[in-house]
Order: sequence, then structure tokens, then C-alpha cells
Amino acid sequence: MLIRVPKSNAIKESQITDENVYQNRRQILKSMGFLGASALLASPTANAIDWFGSTEQKKFTTESLKFSKPQQFRSDDELTPKQKIISHNNFYEFGTGKSDPVAMSQSFKVDPWSLTIDGLVEKPITLGYEDLYKTLDLEERIYRLRCVEAWSMVVPWIGFSLASLLKKARPLSAAKYVIFETLYDPKQMPGQRNRFSGGGINYPYVEGLRLDEAMHPLTLLSVGLYGKTLPPQNGAPIRLVVPWKYGFKSIKSIVRIRLSDKQPKTTWNQLAANEYGFFANVNPGVDHPRWTQASERRITSGGLFARNRIETQMFNGYSEVAPLYAGMDLKKYF
Ligand code: MTE
Repeated sequence: MLIRVPKSNAIKESQITDENVYQNRRQILKSMGFLGASALLASPTANAIDWFGSTEQKKFTTESLKFSKPQQFRSDDELTPKQKIISHNNFYEFGTGKSDPVAMSQSFKVDPWSLTIDGLVEKPITLGYEDLYKTLDLEERIYRLRCVEAWSMVVPWIGFSLASLLKKARPLSAAKYVIFETLYDPKQMPGQRNRFSGGGINYPYVEGLRLDEAMHPLTLLSVGLYGKTLPPQNGAPIRLVVPWKYGFKSIKSIVRIRLSDKQPKTTWNQLAANEYGFFANVNPGVDHPRWTQASERRITSGGLFARNRIETQMFNGYSEVAPLYAGMDLKKYF
């Protein structure tokens, strides 16, 4: 997702960090006593106390959840191992490297939490931490997650449909868009402390969907994965998952959901509109200006030499969403 790279530097497969490489590197550095120092270089704002004190020693604890397993959300795809899902992340609030979020977020506080649903609704709602897990029945849904950087995972999320929550707030007929906002808390999120360490983003991170996309039954608010509550690096305590769109739409650690009559200015679209469209539907026919989107590297249980380059599918294989875009030129509205 870094932006100012010369055109000739198209992303190569080898540039997308393989999790085994990362784990090995980490072990070697640890045994040499270098882990703190190397991580400090990767995340310029990380302070020594974070590294040699709380962050490195503390481990965020996740809790088991009760949920059903509806048949329509099972999948034949091989699940990405949990260890990889929770250690190869994009969460720029905790640094721009793939291993920064897990390293920098372990003391993140999720309780108390407050999630507000407001704007063009009849009945604004505020949910506290406990409410996130008991307001709606939880279900496990196995979804493919396709990052715009051309890697992908298969994740057993736990959560509830966004539609079921929005219906409780009763959207007004003037509402056309749903806007999501991540927590803004520079004390806890080192990437928010300055533009350099946070990837040039003007925080808080904001995303948006058209109301009909938000109401689609596939659109999920996730509070867990692999049977347990979310760890911070994956967006605790609550994040969006829109499986037919590039991963940057799936905003993490949400504090506000606002209904509006206007299309919002979203984070990546504002940074580079020619690279990251508002719709961001997975589309093998529309390349990123600097790399192909026709294929992707699936992160599996395989090691370094696993043959895991696969063809990317339109809408990431979720063809049931096609009617949402009937008559639209998806090359123009990418
Ligand atoms: N949400 C916030 N607030 N900040 C981020 O940097 N990164 C996005 C998305 N949500 C991001 C975010 C991107 S680019 C991707 S690919 C997914 O989170 C990654 O989700 P994962 O780390 O759980 O795999």
C-alpha cells in the first residue's frame, strides 16, 4: 500500500514478505538479542519503553466465543493457519511493516469500547464492549481476504451481518452511504503520532460503502477469528469484512458508523485516487497501475517454496454481488 514507488518497481512475489521468512528472521534476531533494535528501525516512532517494556512482554489475551456455523458460509478453500493470519497484517496505525501490528499492539485496550451508529438513522445506537458480543447472534463465516497488494488468505471470521445491526438503527430514506471510522488514539497507536510512521495517512482511517453494499448479506462485522475474540493486530474489538472488495475496505477497530447522503472521502482513495478506487471491487481485469491484479499469492500452510500463485477471481469469487453493479462500467468505477 506504499505509494511513492517508481513505476518500474512493480511488486514482485518475493517482495511480499513470506511469513516463514519473517518468523525465521525474528527467531534469529531474538537469539542474537537484536529483536528490539531491528523492530525499532522498522517503526521509527516506536519508543524504547514500548519495545523493551510492555509491548514485547505483554500478550493480548483473546477469549473463546459461542457461535453457529451456517452452511452457506463454509468453504472448500484451505484455511490460512491462524499463526499467519495474526502475524502478517496491514494496520498502519501500528506501523507500516507487515510485522509491526503484532509487535506494537499487544497492550491495546479494547474494554471499555464504544461503537456509535448515527447520522441518517431513526434510532441512533451506542454499543459498549460487552454489547459487541451479545447484541446479535454470532456466526462463523469462512471468507477469502484479497489484499490489493496481491496476497490473499482464507479466514474463519466470527461476527454478524452489518445489515442486522443497521436495521436496528432504522436507516432513513435519505441515507445512501455508510461511513466507518477507526479509533483515533495516538497514545495507543504509534502510527498516528506522525505522518511518516503512519504511512502518510491523515488519521482517523475512514472507509465507506454504498448503502446497498452495506446491506448485502455477505457484509460482515467481525468480532473474532478461529473461535476467539479478535487480537488487536486484526482489528479488535470490531472490524468490517467485505469479502468481494480489496482488503483496505475492511476497516479495523471501528468506533463510529455513520449514515449519510454523500459519498465519503475515504483514506486510501484520498491518498492516491488513481491507485485505490472508492469501490475497490476485486477485479482481475483492472490492474493496479504498478502491478497486475490477475493473480495473487495465497498464504497457506505451505512453506517458502509452496506453489501458491493462483488466478484472481472476479469479485474474489463472490459472484452473487454482481447485481449490485449492473450497468456500471467497473473499469471506470474501480
Ligand atoms: N484498517 C485500519 N484502520 N488501518 C489499516 O491500515 N489496513 C487494511 C485493512 N483495514 C488497515 C485497515 C488493509 S490494506 C488490509 S489488506 C486489511 O485491513 C488487512 O487485514 P488483516 O491484517 O486482518 O489481514
